[in-house]
Amino acid sequence: MSELVQVTVAGGVQVIRMNRPDKKNALTLEMYGAMADALTAGGADAAVGAQVLTGGADFSAGNDLGDFLTLTTLFGTPLERFLQALASARKPLLAAVSGAAVGIGSTMLLHCDLVLAAETARFQFPFINLGLVPEAASTLLLPRLAGHARAAELLMLGDPFGPEQALAAGLINRVVPAEALEAAALALAGRLAAKPRQAMAWTKALLKAAPEEVPARITREAERFVDCLKSAELKEAVAAFREKRAPDFSRCR
Ligand code: COA
Repeated sequence: MSELVQVTVAGGVQVIRMNRPDKKNALTLEMYGAMADALTAGGADAAVGAQVLTGGADFSAGNDLGDFLTLTTLFGTPLERFLQALASARKPLLAAVSGAAVGIGSTMLLHCDLVLAAETARFQFPFINLGLVPEAASTLLLPRLAGHARAAELLMLGDPFGPEQALAAGLINRVVPAEALEAAALALAGRLAAKPRQAMAWTKALLKAAPEEVPARITREAERFVDCLKSAELKEAVAAFREKRAPDFSRCR
C-alpha cells in the first residue's frame, strides 16, 4: 500500500485518505492505483458499509501536472482503473472536501453519493485552461446535475469557485466548519453503514439510471484526452504552471 494513500476501516466505515500534503494531494499514478485497490477492497469487505474519500488541508489539486507530460495513454493505466472503480462502486460513497478540489479532485465528487465541504473548499474544473478535455464522465454527469448552462460555464471557463456555488450546482450536500468536517463525514458514513446493506446497494444502483452510460463516457472522454496529451497547448500550460506565469496559447495556433 502506498504511503501517499492511507486506508483505515472502523465502525463499518472505510476511509481512503490522500496524503501528499506538500503537493496539495496532486495525484500520481501510484496514488490512483492505491485508491482503485482500496475502493475495490472496501466494496468486497463485509466489514465495510460505507466508503469515505478525504484529504487533509487540501482534498486534491488534481492530476500531477508533471505526469501529464510523460503519460501517452489513459487506457490500462491506474488512472483509468481508478475512474472505473469509482463508477462501479456499489456501496455508499462520501467525500469530505477542504481546500483545493481541482480537476479530478472535483470530478471524482460527481461519483459520490454525499459530499460534505468545509468553508475552505475551492473547486475547479480547469481542463480547458490546460488544453485538455474533462474526464471521469464529467461531461455527462455535471450537466445532469447542474444543467447545461451552469455545466458549460464551469467546464468552458474553468474558473475556481467556492462552496456556495458548489451547493447551487448540486455538487455538494452541505458546508460545515473546517474543524468539524472529518467528524461530520464519519458520523454520516456511520449512519449509512448501519442501514440495511442489500436495500442500500439496490437503492444506489437504482439511483444511477442507465449505469452503462458512465463507463462508456469515461472511455469516449479518454480518447480525446489522449489526443490532448500530445498537444502544444498542454505543454504550454504545464510550462506556464512550472514557471509561475500565465499561459500564452497564441503560441500554439
Ligand atoms: N501537480 C503537480 N504539482 C502540484 C499540483 C499539480 N496538479 N498542484 C499543486 N502542485 C504543487 C506546486 O507545484 C507546489 O509545489 P512546490 O512547493 O514544490 O513549488 C505545491 O504543490 C503547492 O502548490 P502552490 O501552487 O504553491 O499552492 P497555491 O495555494 O498557490 O495554489 C492550486 C493551489 C491548487 C490553486 C495550484 O497549485 C494549482 O492551480 N495547481 C494545479 C491544479 C491543476 O491544474 N491540476 C490539474 C487538473 S487536470
